[in-house]
Amino acid sequence: MSDVVTSILTAVWVFIPAMLPNSAAAIFGGGKPIDLGKTWKGRRILGDGKTWRGLFGGGLAGVFIGLAQMAVSLPFDPENLWGFASFSAGIFLLFLLSFGSLFGDVVGSLIKRRMGLERGTKAPLLDQYDFVIGAFLLITPLYWTWFRNIYLDGNGIFGLVFLLLLIPALHRSINILGYKMGVKKEPW
Ligand code: CTP
Ligand code: MG
Repeated sequence: MSDVVTSILTAVWVFIPAMLPNSAAAIFGGGKPIDLGKTWKGRRILGDGKTWRGLFGGGLAGVFIGLAQMAVSLPFDPENLWGFASFSAGIFLLFLLSFGSLFGDVVGSLIKRRMGLERGTKAPLLDQYDFVIGAFLLITPLYWTWFRNIYLDGNGIFGLVFLLLLIPALHRSINILGYKMGVKKEPW
């Protein structure tokens, strides 16, 4: 396979633990909101769409999918685990990818509420990229060498561009699916 294709596949593959938590949060979510119903300047701090169950259910789902990904890669690529490097380095990385993405999602809702947008309303770009920014913000200071290896060096930049273009399309399709399955209130 060409190097560019390999870089693109790796860039998307290692980002699955950051992409899954949002959908998993919609499935596991509900119950007590993270902001406990509190308001700030007359508006909810985060709103009922951000719950503790969603945060931990979604976050752990991301960590578990990552562990499964590492396990399937082990017989084929014991040296590098298809981009996750090693179990010892990879486990903390999984927590950062997964909980980082949900942290970005929470900050996204915080911003939406400050802009006066009710829970579930559309916020183009913010809705699609808040979780990516959240995950990258936690990873870049702590795993800079890994990040540079996967997303910047060599053909990695093609992987990064591909991932950033893929995300809005994936976000849209998965949300339509979630809406049809009845786990999401709006198809966006
Ligand atoms: N969810 C949750 N807890 C989280 C994140 C998401 O319970 N930490 C669930 C909620 O049921 C939410 C659904 O997943 O409604 C979809 O998430 P999202 O689209 O991010 O939330 P919205 O309801 O659209 O709210 P917001 O306007 O704040 O984005
Ligand atoms: Mg939404």
